[in-house]
Amino acid sequence: MAEIRVQNLHKAFAEFTAVKDSTFTVNDGEFFCLLGPSGCGKTTTLRMIAGLELPTSGEIYLGRENVTFKRASARDIAFVFQMFALYPHMTVRQNIAFPLVSQGMPRAEIRERVAQAAKTLHITAMLDQSVSGLTSGDRQRVALGRAIVRQPMAFMMDEPLGALDTEFREIMCAELRALHDRLSATTVYVTHDQREAMSMADKIAIMNQGVIEQLGAPQEIYERPATVFVADFMGSPSMNFIPTTAALARGETTLNIGTAKLPLSAVCDDVSTRSLLYGVRPEHVRLTDDSVFRAEVVGVEYLGNCQIITLNTAAGSTVRAKVDVGVHAARGDQVGLTFDAGEVTLFDQASGRAIPTARDDVPMSLVGTRVAAHG
Ligand SMILES: Nc1ncnc2c1ncn2[C@@H]1O[C@H](COP(=O)(O)OP(=O)(O)OP(=O)(O)O)[C@@H](O)[C@H]1O
Ligand SMILES: [Mg+2]
Repeated sequence: MAEIRVQNLHKAFAEFTAVKDSTFTVNDGEFFCLLGPSGCGKTTTLRMIAGLELPTSGEIYLGRENVTFKRASARDIAFVFQMFALYPHMTVRQNIAFPLVSQGMPRAEIRERVAQAAKTLHITAMLDQSVSGLTSGDRQRVALGRAIVRQPMAFMMDEPLGALDTEFREIMCAELRALHDRLSATTVYVTHDQREAMSMADKIAIMNQGVIEQLGAPQEIYERPATVFVADFMGSPSMNFIPTTAALARGETTLNIGTAKLPLSAVCDDVSTRSLLYGVRPEHVRLTDDSVFRAEVVGVEYLGNCQIITLNTAAGSTVRAKVDVGVHAARGDQVGLTFDAGEVTLFDQASGRAIPTARDDVPMSLVGTRVAAHG
């Protein structure tokens, strides 16, 4: 197994740039997710690492070796696709053994390796069955078997669970992560599904239009999004963004949210006069009568273990709150809103970037004496 290092990777197709100046390191044994919407450059990045696509510029290292111009077959990387192309006329055993047979490996060793891969994937009992009769989940296990039997330095997986239905995908997610833990294999996993990435990854690179917007552990990305795009992409329902402005008067910065004015404790002088977004996740919004920040309930969605309340604020934004099922709210109710202390991110509206000191400096509660209502 090995570390993968990608440095200033760039890929242009004629006039169109699919990957822009991408730099990241996948540590030895790490499960690394490339996450982003359709067309953001995930597959192109993966194909360059695997050697199936030549970069326009930049470098790729596998371990200490610069493999940028090395052929795919010489890179010792196994690739697993969404559309697992198995040989339908062959048995499970023959399918898994195929890459080793092509290498000309001695038969006894092939037998041993196939048995080991099958055991790891819990498919020993079906080794002599034809693949044509298998379910899609079992077919994907066989495809994984064909990848792990090679014992490569790294795995590239491009939406390998995309063809499975939701319930089965969740089971396979857990299995894939368990498999990763058993093999400790350096893995780059591509997905557009944030839940898949959050549940499996050690580290996530979240991409947008060819650019990595943020790189970090799932929790770090969820709790401290670097941009509006990331904050919006991660989480369901996604973060609320309430337009606000900041004004500097007599040495004190104040946030204007609708009719509420909030003093901003120090440091954030540079935010004054800029248009900002006050970002708060639905689970950090509370309904209370004791707030000057007023809103009307326009929708209630009961989800069994929680409910999602949609509200229109007096200032004209829509806010969604994820609250306990015990909270009583009905369409048409007039309520006050507060936001959990320390759980708000301020974004600069023009650049879409989070303001670094925002978490410590934004007063979160709109309740009480710190807030003066106007109008
Ligand atoms: N060979 C090619 N020639 C021209 N454009 C290409 C080529 N391959 C990819 N692209 C373009 O580059 C962009 C990124 O493609 P890529 O396949 O990497 O996206 P992706 O993030 O994997 O998307 P998806 O989730 O839909 O698979 C897309 O706009 C795509 O149309
Ligand atoms: Mg793709």
